[in-house]
Amino acid sequence: MDHLVAAKQLTPEVLSGLMQKAEEYRKLLETPEGRKQLRELYPDKVVATLFYEPSTRTRLSHESAAQRLGMGVVSTENAAEFSSAIKGETIEDTVRVVCGYADAIVIRHKETGIVDRAAAASPVPVINAGDGTGEHPTQALLDVYTIWREMGTLEGLNVLMGGDLAHGRTVRSLAQVMSNYKGTSFTFVSTPQLQMGDDIKALLKERGVAFTETDDVNEAVKQADVVYWTRLQKERLEDPTLEAGFVIDESVLQNMKEKSVIMHPLPRVSEITAGVDIDPRAAYFRQSHNGVYVRMALLDYLFSHK
Ligand code: CP
Repeated sequence: MDHLVAAKQLTPEVLSGLMQKAEEYRKLLETPEGRKQLRELYPDKVVATLFYEPSTRTRLSHESAAQRLGMGVVSTENAAEFSSAIKGETIEDTVRVVCGYADAIVIRHKETGIVDRAAAASPVPVINAGDGTGEHPTQALLDVYTIWREMGTLEGLNVLMGGDLAHGRTVRSLAQVMSNYKGTSFTFVSTPQLQMGDDIKALLKERGVAFTETDDVNEAVKQADVVYWTRLQKERLEDPTLEAGFVIDESVLQNMKEKSVIMHPLPRVSEITAGVDIDPRAAYFRQSHNGVYVRMALLDYLFSHK
């Protein structure tokens, strides 16, 4: 793996190595000696983060991961406006330039598929930090790591995905990755306008992975091991009057299994009420923190396999 552009690259074998490394880094970060040891690992590397779309978690956790491994970071947080893209520079030319300043490039962009083009033009590793309605593979990486830490296994789980499944890229990447594990089944909860894409459903059928679609959230959560909820992606809607339709609140919690986990890629808007946060099954803030450990593991993987 020279670049990480798509979730299909995250095979169970690759994920197992990354999660093991993430656990190792997590432990080292617990002590001052461990933190010092980590900072000495990659002092000669620089990571560039080019974000053409807004981000809090993905950009900052990549930058934190790089800095915790001793790397330098160069960044443009509003590349759509403040990079030379606005003057008409192509993504290919941009990476041909930035690879002279950095040893890896993390890119988020509103256009699906553009990170593949960047990777094809780049002699240094490129990481897809989210491309339009396409994919968000590093989110899938941290999501799988979170499921494994919270549930103790990645096998035999019913994964409920709900909210805006049509425009959310995190659910598309996670569905692909989880479908590789034995005994996974999916329940998709959405309004008819926000259903999971046909390409992902076709992939699940091809792999013989069971899935159902419903709009009955209270019934669906009864059998779910993982409840993965998402916000309405307002910035991608052609019809601005669309509503997500469902909310996870304390009444939904009553129907959930005692041993289950509630996840969300964040940002949360109003689709999970604040009252849910104190439930021990609500893992979304732990999930967001896991982003640093797995992105440290990913940077290490990309540099050590070059
Ligand atoms: N989960 C996620 O991608 O969050 P940001 O948009 O804040 O990076």
